[in-house]
Amino acid sequence: MELNKLIFKINGDERGSLIALEQNKNIPFSIKRVYYIFDNKNSVVRGCHAHKKLKQVLICVNGSCNIKMDNGFESTIVKLDSPSEGLLIDSFIWREMYDFSFDAVLLVLASELYDPSDYIRDYNEFKEIVRGE
Ligand code: TYD
Repeated sequence: MELNKLIFKINGDERGSLIALEQNKNIPFSIKRVYYIFDNKNSVVRGCHAHKKLKQVLICVNGSCNIKMDNGFESTIVKLDSPSEGLLIDSFIWREMYDFSFDAVLLVLASELYDPSDYIRDYNEFKEIVRGE
């Protein structure tokens, strides 16, 4: 399935590196919410849901993790291990996040405020929706 990877420009000099993220510029939506996942316990799997409306960009700003994305027909696994790389996850994509390194910090930029009613938490229901069944 199509991968929406974003590569961010690193502003580097002798002091180190800086990356700027700007809504509707290098982030393809207006950012309404930011959260980050850290202090991950061993072998946890997070996510395991899809969204009806929400779009997100995931950036592993420290450490690494794997993201499984599934559009109901096919799935793909992406390793995120660079602060200069983002993964765009559109609406109606099932996602699972796992294999977090002990030091992983996963930054998430979201197009909507937190809304529990936007979640599809049942994989079979998700598949039926995207397959139009
Ligand atoms: P959860 O949806 O289980 O996280 P994940 O999708 O990574 O597995 O969220 C964990 C908790 O945090 C849950 O109690 C809901 C809460 N939460 C918020 O309050 N605001 C948010 O923006 C998010 C994403 C979660």
